[in-house]
Amino acid sequence: MSAHAPFTAFRIHNDDAGYRGGLEQIALDQLSPGEVVVRARWSSVNYKDALAGTGQGKILRRFPLVGGIDVAGEVVASTDPAFREGDAVLATGCGLSETRDGGYSQYVRLESKWAIPLPAGLSLREAMVLGTAGFTAALALLRMKDNRQTPDHGPLAVTGATGGVGSLAVDIFSRAGFEVHAISGKTEAKDYLTTLGASQVLGRDALATTRPMESARFGGGLDNVGGAMLTSLLAQTAPYGNVASAGLAASAQLDMTVMPFIIRGVSLLGVASAGTARDIRGQVWQHLGEDWKPRHLDTICTREVGLDGLPEVFATMLAGGSFGRTVVRID
Ligand SMILES: NC(=O)c1ccc[n+]([C@@H]2O[C@H](COP(=O)([O-])OP(=O)(O)OC[C@H]3O[C@@H](n4cnc5c(N)ncnc54)[C@H](OP(=O)(O)O)[C@@H]3O)[C@@H](O)[C@H]2O)c1
Repeated sequence: MSAHAPFTAFRIHNDDAGYRGGLEQIALDQLSPGEVVVRARWSSVNYKDALAGTGQGKILRRFPLVGGIDVAGEVVASTDPAFREGDAVLATGCGLSETRDGGYSQYVRLESKWAIPLPAGLSLREAMVLGTAGFTAALALLRMKDNRQTPDHGPLAVTGATGGVGSLAVDIFSRAGFEVHAISGKTEAKDYLTTLGASQVLGRDALATTRPMESARFGGGLDNVGGAMLTSLLAQTAPYGNVASAGLAASAQLDMTVMPFIIRGVSLLGVASAGTARDIRGQVWQHLGEDWKPRHLDTICTREVGLDGLPEVFATMLAGGSFGRTVVRID
């Protein structure tokens, strides 16, 4: 790959002509610096990608940048001897499409400290069906288990269950031996969520509560939604259960009392996938390739698009219409 040969990337600008993202031809030496050059094969679409690609959220810290917080492909050149030509690698978060050029591109330059060798149990495509969404779900489970969460606490609730993080969490948590109660606004998704491993599928109103504490019906859970649903989930969590907060699909607010914390010892755990330390990243990806590998990746991957299909996927996602995961094929 010559440094000057052009290739296709979905690049985002914000200048006098306005905020816009689209396909354009760029060259390797226009990309953020990094030791490892990767021929990208697959990426994915996360909520953050939709915000970044449309400008509906403030994600990019500089412009222009190539979009895409996830990427998987093969190394074509590396100045770090830890990686050799032909190695299969992946990266999620780590500043991609935030402070540096991301994965929606035929070629990507990565800092070697953030390139993860593809786990033996995953194909490049499977790694991107997981992507940041699967990494986030598994990181939540790791944090809960580190804080002594066990199936004996009771079922784990997953809010925003049909979304990317939610779908993968339902599968991963049930594979890891937990009973899972999926909470979704899509009544038609009951069969889908049951297939993934949910023993119960509840509507969003099932969490509605007005009291600081309710009877404990969940052992803990993963919240992708924020606001009143997170408040309710905490109010209904059993003693010493853990609730991981990953998302804000409904609201960034959290209005609650301290009662669940001081009466029941409930823990609220933060999950910030993008900034996860390298050693924890390695642990999470090892689980994802082995004992926590979701059993229904083909079902969860509901859509495959090329780079030219991104704008439509962004619009559906921002309208709350996500269902499972979309992978991006990079030809
Ligand atoms: N902390 C991290 O590191 C991290 C990593 C990845 C994602 N996230 C965040 O996690 C959230 C989910 O991400 P994702 O990629 O899974 O997004 P997604 O695929 O768009 O899924 C979001 C889901 O949330 C539910 N939802 C949407 N709007 C809602 C509303 N107004 N009220 C209640 N529920 C609503 C829907 O599920 P139902 O229809 O089934 O209810 C939707 O499918 C986003 O906020 C994202 O920014 C955070």
